[in-house]
Amino acid sequence: MKEWTREERYKKLSDYSDDYMEELAKRVAQSPFRQHYHIQPNTGLLNDPNGFTYFDGKWHLFYQWFPMGAVHGLKHWFHLTSTDLVQWKEEGVALLPDTEYDSHGVYSGSGFVKDGQLHIMYTGNVRTEEWERVPNQIVARMEADGSFTKFLPPAIAGNPEGYTDHVRDPKVWEQHGIYYAVIGAQRTDETGTILMYRSKDALEWELMGEVDAGLPDFGFMWECPDLFEIDGKTVLLFSPQGLEPEGDRYHNIFQTGYVIADDFRMDELKLEHEGFQELDAGFDFYATQTAESPDGRRILTAWMGLPDVAYPTDSEDWAHCLTLPRELAIKEGKLIQQPVRELVALRKKQALSESGLLSEAKRFERSGANCYELQLDVTFLASADHAPVTLDLCEDAANDKRFRITLDPSAKKITIDRSQCGIPFAEDFGTTRTLAVEQMDAVKLQIFVDTSSIEIFVNDGEGTFTSRVFPEAGETCLSLAAGSTIDYRLDLWELA
Ligand code: FRU
Repeated sequence: MKEWTREERYKKLSDYSDDYMEELAKRVAQSPFRQHYHIQPNTGLLNDPNGFTYFDGKWHLFYQWFPMGAVHGLKHWFHLTSTDLVQWKEEGVALLPDTEYDSHGVYSGSGFVKDGQLHIMYTGNVRTEEWERVPNQIVARMEADGSFTKFLPPAIAGNPEGYTDHVRDPKVWEQHGIYYAVIGAQRTDETGTILMYRSKDALEWELMGEVDAGLPDFGFMWECPDLFEIDGKTVLLFSPQGLEPEGDRYHNIFQTGYVIADDFRMDELKLEHEGFQELDAGFDFYATQTAESPDGRRILTAWMGLPDVAYPTDSEDWAHCLTLPRELAIKEGKLIQQPVRELVALRKKQALSESGLLSEAKRFERSGANCYELQLDVTFLASADHAPVTLDLCEDAANDKRFRITLDPSAKKITIDRSQCGIPFAEDFGTTRTLAVEQMDAVKLQIFVDTSSIEIFVNDGEGTFTSRVFPEAGETCLSLAAGSTIDYRLDLWELA
């Protein structure tokens, strides 16, 4: 694997010729792991979704991008637009680290509409000669030609007293004519928190204080905060770093989760809630961002990857993708995620529709690409002694290779296992993940499989598992196995 020197990681895009970038893109396009319907970089590394906004009849979505290889180097924003959340048009690189206030990276941030124009606020990352970090929060405006005007000096320069240089990822919204921003931060005692700012004009910002989420010592840094309302309740979503595994929870290197409060008063900045809940139970999910759709839906997307984890495509000079867009709702004190309804447009043809009673293993041969949506409904029959049911995806001819989903009705748990799936990676963080579900008389799974990812929605979004997988040629079959009798229905659509 290539070792990147600091000098190489901080070289500018303009230091590379167009020919060089074209050759790199051609090489990346040969990768057997390129996705069919997920947002992915043409070269280099993608991480957080940024600036997700509906503006002027279109969705705007950006991502953190290091163009030259699969390493966290000098970050840019890459811009995409869509009218339907399904087909995305690449608009190209939108923000370059080209000023003294963002010289070492245009880090994460969000979008908002002001005076009929799309604005963004992001973190300009600076390193001094001594390599000390300086975080700047910068506002920029998109002009009619798609270019951005940065308002400098920064809206918020450096870190406020009491906080380290880890202050980043502003999420802005407007409420009753006032702009608010939540920003991820680290206190000087090295615990994570969120700062809240307000502004009348989105240019001059005043620190209101810390958001009191009642979690005073919960990891060393909170990244990518987001604060929004659903059904009159306030949701605070963020990515805390430094939590230890606890039972089935927190097994990834870093987490993403939320708290839900009945009330959030701007004078107190206090959120009273029933506890932090992890948002996704899969292997690869981090740095979420949400946006509101014109019809009032709260739509979420996330980085389908994690910091400090090596992935099989790193050697191919590209890495990562975004998750599918998901609609959020609150049900019984939990955030529910469902794939946005627009995604039915991806269905090309229904390739399987099977149903009936099953008390053994049934294999479904498939030879096409791993690019499909699968729905499985399982009902455990009341009289039977309930044994676990397994669904294997990305299976080879001998069933030696597979991604296994196990429904265990007696434990009321669902487990995914990627230990035998394709190219192994990130095994230090474990090869299984488990989710407890409320009831297991019947289970419904909606699964989106792309060349190198599997997103599983359990019981209409009660839980999700989001994971990267790297199956090799021929690992495309499925099987369903029941140890006791089940009633099932399985539908599969090939996706465009
Ligand atoms: C999260 C993150 C953010 C930061 C960005 C830099 O993955 O570390 O906190 O702004 O990535 O790319």
